[in-house]
Amino acid sequence: MVYQANPARYESMEYRRCGRSGLKLPAISLGLWHNFGDSTLLDNSRQLLHRAFDSGITHLDLANNYGPPPGSAEENFGRILREDFLPYRDELIISSKAGYTMWDGPYGDWGSRKYLISSLDQSLKRMGLEYVDIFYHHRPDPETPLEETMRALDTVVRQGKALYVGVSNYPAELAAQAIDILNDLGTPCLIHQPRYSMFERWVEGGLLDVLQEKGVGSIAFSPLAGGQLTDRYLDGIPADSRAASGSKFLNADQLTDEKLEKVRKLNDIAQRRGQKLSQMALAWVLRGDKVTSVLIGASKTSQIDDAVGMLANRHFTAEELAEIEAILV
Ligand SMILES: NC(=O)c1ccc[n+]([C@@H]2O[C@H](COP(=O)([O-])OP(=O)(O)OC[C@H]3O[C@@H](n4cnc5c(N)ncnc54)[C@H](OP(=O)(O)O)[C@@H]3O)[C@@H](O)[C@H]2O)c1
Repeated sequence: MVYQANPARYESMEYRRCGRSGLKLPAISLGLWHNFGDSTLLDNSRQLLHRAFDSGITHLDLANNYGPPPGSAEENFGRILREDFLPYRDELIISSKAGYTMWDGPYGDWGSRKYLISSLDQSLKRMGLEYVDIFYHHRPDPETPLEETMRALDTVVRQGKALYVGVSNYPAELAAQAIDILNDLGTPCLIHQPRYSMFERWVEGGLLDVLQEKGVGSIAFSPLAGGQLTDRYLDGIPADSRAASGSKFLNADQLTDEKLEKVRKLNDIAQRRGQKLSQMALAWVLRGDKVTSVLIGASKTSQIDDAVGMLANRHFTAEELAEIEAILV
């Protein structure tokens, strides 16, 4: 059956300006890091994309290495795009990245011009796209001159292979330098993609201020700490969860008693607010004006519904914020 998007899709979402650019992003974006590789069912990935777009989630985030195996998330996404989403291409903001190990030898990793430009060419082929909307440098490279990496980003925009560029995982000082170089080149940095959640707050130590001052947007990845900031692990580790999947990013060792105790206390506050912990955790990242969008992952369509449901109640009283703060310290 031909996919037809929900005609009411723009009614349930809030769109927020990305820094001082002309682009608005949905308050909630969907990442394809997990659940889109060859080891997952294509039909589930398809359902996730349908539900996201039907809910007004117009921004889909990929990277060259998402899978497993690396590259397969872009391939599978490309197939679903071709089959279901081509009529909607101009309603979508699709991003990709390069910066982590992608192929053998010295040109398949980090931040050289050689790696970034050839990697984006590969990503475009895998997805069947002429251009991505946002192309990121995925992580800082301590050896390549920053100017070379930023020039490569400027080049892909001038070549028409990306409309905007961004950086990810850059510490505040380096991000400021990258933003200045890109401005000098005439290709402003659109966005920074850092990890940010109740459990990972390094961005509060300067990065968010730098971005706001320089007019660059931000999209917070892993806002649920991979699922820890949900009710998923309150009664053990479910067999279908990320922590049970053998992931090196989330495993049973990380779910300490101390952490679960915090999760329980946060869950009590969320219940008092009449929402799920996952919803409160997303609303918390969006509090204030410094974060443009939260970049979630989902293994089930109900998780996308949960995230969108957050928008109905995303404001906190000063007392609630203080209570949360006391739990997090
Ligand atoms: N730039 C970077 O270096 C970088 C690094 C990491 C991620 N990212 C981006 O950020 C995106 C999101 O990362 P993430 O997947 O770690 O984000 P996350 O939103 O913190 O975690 C998502 C996981 O939490 C669980 N979950 C979500 N909603 C839930 C709910 N309502 N109830 C219970 N459990 C729920 C699901 O795990 P289950 O499998 O257990 O259901 C889901 O896959 C990635 O796809 C990628 O695009 C970027």
